[in-house]
Amino acid sequence: MLSIDKMIDRIEELPSPDFVVQKIISVASDPHASAQELADAIMMDASLSSKVLKLANSAYYGIPRRISVLSEAIMILGFKTVRNLAMSVFTYSSLFSSNGTEAINRKSLWRHFVYVAVGSETLGEILGYPVKEELFINGLLHDIGKVALDVISPRMMRAISSITSAKNRTFLEAEKLLEIPPHTSIGAKLVERWGLPDVIVQTVEGHHSPEMFLDSINAEVVAIVHVADVVANMMFPGDSLSYGKPNLSHDALNLLVLRPKTLIRFMDRFKVKVKKADEFLEM
Ligand SMILES: [Fe+2]
Ligand SMILES: [Fe+2]
Repeated sequence: MLSIDKMIDRIEELPSPDFVVQKIISVASDPHASAQELADAIMMDASLSSKVLKLANSAYYGIPRRISVLSEAIMILGFKTVRNLAMSVFTYSSLFSSNGTEAINRKSLWRHFVYVAVGSETLGEILGYPVKEELFINGLLHDIGKVALDVISPRMMRAISSITSAKNRTFLEAEKLLEIPPHTSIGAKLVERWGLPDVIVQTVEGHHSPEMFLDSINAEVVAIVHVADVVANMMFPGDSLSYGKPNLSHDALNLLVLRPKTLIRFMDRFKVKVKKADEFLEM
């Protein structure tokens, strides 16, 4: 069995955000940057620009007229949303370009990433979370450790997959049964190496155990992504190679003051939103 440290070393083999993506992330987080600067950063990569524009025009954002230039997309949708679109294009390409086993159905894993991103943003809206765009990127990346695990050890991935699907178990239960280092820790190390902000590192680490970060300034984000992930796993079992009944954290529900009535309202709105996210599924 590989130790977690040895596994983490092999993460280097995964594609990491290139210069263009890193530049986009840094410009988008700079409060003094202009829309043109962000547009210029994205335009360094022609294929990325056209994909970002395609997503900006998707049904998910429901902009009534066609956006044809990036700076306009940034003005209408905001810096953080456009950064999320660029990050989506990068995550999609790293998922589909990395080696791994057929145990993972990459299309369904990608659907899970998108649905948890959409779900987190939707739940944030309902709860009145101030920066809902931050939730999208956290939701999108929460299970990135599964991609890493698949690249590091396709054999382990196949073992997990046979347990979860045949025995109706969650991914987490299979990891514990097989004593495999959790995808949460592997993923957290990965996004840390990518230089992504703490909030993303904590969400990736704590999305199955939000109680880990109750004292953190990021507690709400971790809890929201946790709830969105549980709901996505219940509504679309198997997408992330997880079956069975996921554990919903009471600490997360208490922290968010999320009552059953609100949870039901969330699920209804989530169903509507995922139908509009089709363009994210095929890039
Ligand atoms: Fe997970
Ligand atoms: Fe997940």
